[in-house]
Amino acid sequence: MGTILLVCTGNICRSPMAYGFLSQLLRERGVSSIRLESAGTHSWDDSPATPEAVRALQERGIDISDHLAQRLNRSLIEEADLVLGMAGDHRDAATRIVPSAAERTFTLKEFVQLLEPGDDRPEAAPAADPEHRLRAAVEYAAATRADPARRGFTDEDVADPLGLGIEAFRAAAWELGELCQRMANAVFGPAGARSEPQPAAAPQTQTQTQNRTVGARGKGRSSRMNDYAASWQALRATDPEVAGAIAAELHRERSTLRLIASENYASPAVLAALASTMNNKYAEGYPGRRYYGGCEFVDVTETLAIDRAKQVFGAEHANVQPHAGAQANLAVYGAFLTPNDPAQKVLGLALPHGGHLTHGSPVNVSGKWFSFVAYEVDPETELIDMDRVRDLALQERPKMILAGFTAYPRVIDFKGFRDIADEVGAILMVDAAHFIGLVAGGAYPSPVPYADVVTFTTHKTLRGPRGAMILSREEHAKAIDKAVFPMMQGGPLEHCIAAKAVCLKEAMEPEFREYAERTVRTARALAAGLQEEGLRPVSGGTDSHLALIDLRPFDDELTGADVEAVCDEVGIALNKNAIPFDPRPPLRPSGIRVGTPGPSTLGMDEPEMKEVARIMGDVLRRPRDRAVKDRARQAVADLMNRFPAYPG
Ligand SMILES: Cc1ncc(COP(=O)(O)O)c(C=O)c1O
Repeated sequence: MGTILLVCTGNICRSPMAYGFLSQLLRERGVSSIRLESAGTHSWDDSPATPEAVRALQERGIDISDHLAQRLNRSLIEEADLVLGMAGDHRDAATRIVPSAAERTFTLKEFVQLLEPGDDRPEAAPAADPEHRLRAAVEYAAATRADPARRGFTDEDVADPLGLGIEAFRAAAWELGELCQRMANAVFGPAGARSEPQPAAAPQTQTQTQNRTVGARGKGRSSRMNDYAASWQALRATDPEVAGAIAAELHRERSTLRLIASENYASPAVLAALASTMNNKYAEGYPGRRYYGGCEFVDVTETLAIDRAKQVFGAEHANVQPHAGAQANLAVYGAFLTPNDPAQKVLGLALPHGGHLTHGSPVNVSGKWFSFVAYEVDPETELIDMDRVRDLALQERPKMILAGFTAYPRVIDFKGFRDIADEVGAILMVDAAHFIGLVAGGAYPSPVPYADVVTFTTHKTLRGPRGAMILSREEHAKAIDKAVFPMMQGGPLEHCIAAKAVCLKEAMEPEFREYAERTVRTARALAAGLQEEGLRPVSGGTDSHLALIDLRPFDDELTGADVEAVCDEVGIALNKNAIPFDPRPPLRPSGIRVGTPGPSTLGMDEPEMKEVARIMGDVLRRPRDRAVKDRARQAVADLMNRFPAYPG
């Protein structure tokens, strides 16, 4: 038996596609004594091929939907007669692991080119067995490569299509199909010239081998999960398309640097609670006062979530049922304001100055039903000017003042807002959606002692499930609870509430405090690093988990949309964002927003953020230079490898 090992990075795109083509080509030639394997230098075991790779091969009549990834290791290389990387990096990685395999390790493209035209290559006898033909071809290719006079080519790689959309996958599939065909012809001869008798049993496919492995591992897992109903195996069997997309999302999260300020990595414990049978329970009402029977266990988790929220934030009352931040805000408006009453004004931070859609945007219900008046940041300092807020409050006499942001980098003067609210007799609401995790970890001032009511999402810096909570003073408890249910929502999402309880428990751990402090430290380091690259942090820096970056000093033509796109190409996820007094339209604004809760959760610190700033600077200086982008992509991949998300 001879073995060909195909290697790429994640073992979810290129090498499974090459595997699919070569399997078919070997079958067509009746070759059963050559075994194929594929592996990834940075792969996660059991990840399926990406949906685009599956689709691109399906369009060519080849099914790789059963493929499961495996990580490259020493024994795979040692056992292989031929190791074929999809790119030079893969060849080099395999050679680093087993230096003695260098003579039988190539890239696929290199190998094919070394064999062709092969005028001086001794033709293997048609009757020669496939193993013999394979070894002869490898020897010939190695000898040709060793002769510098005979290597007249430089293009050795099949480009990585990951993240570039289905067309890129189709292109990669076409190229791989051609290369595999040429290789099969060069090594085993054209199809039809059968080199060995048809085997009685079909050759063992990689999928079959891997299914056995997964089955064996699965057994161990299921015995540990007797009390847990959710099953990855069941999902994969029931709906491979959804399972494939979910697995691809995990791969994306593992391989992409997350600088989106509102995103994070919920812990496996939080994710387990989310995937629990508490999803099945209807529990309209509140603990001890439900409209359904059988609520004894969801009462336990909801009470835990309430008690922990009160404890972590020192609040008098907590409602943990809001499905999301937008619903929490609307519930608060519903509790205190009458819709369509122009006399009941609300002061909120202007959207282009860092406020959120739910703070009075005309396209949102907040702006359609309630009378918002926007305050802005100071044009010079780019900070909220409390004197102007006071002047506006005295002029407008609002029923409610709203503080909080989605893109404002600095601390908010909560006491200042409280004083103004008291002076005009307004309710003070704080939307702490973004920074609440920093408050929990002691890295940002708490609004709770000053505000009548605080809303926040649980999935951003707090690192919990998607959802929200409302904290309030006891005097507002009834109004808030009635506004959440039955005014705004029906049955609470009890699986999410259980997960909220878990994330609050995690927030009480000393590690969370370190994470929160690291988040602010890294955001400052990233802002400073980008400044060194020639970009301008709005307001000069940050006190929180995010920085707003003005691109104009770097390049007046560059828009946030351009930066978002080019960073996406190299594996950095961030978002375009308007900056205060932005002359450009919202879809092509002058800024980006970067945040560090994600990198901080992974353990990255100041040196890594300096490195990220340098990578971004390099790419932004030459956004069309392929070599620069390749280097950047590799640097990001290395970083993610050093600080893995959800290590297996
Ligand atoms: C300040 C603020 N409030 C509310 C929300 C809305 O949260 P959700 O997306 O959970 O509805 C967001 C979301 O980004 C936000 O930044």
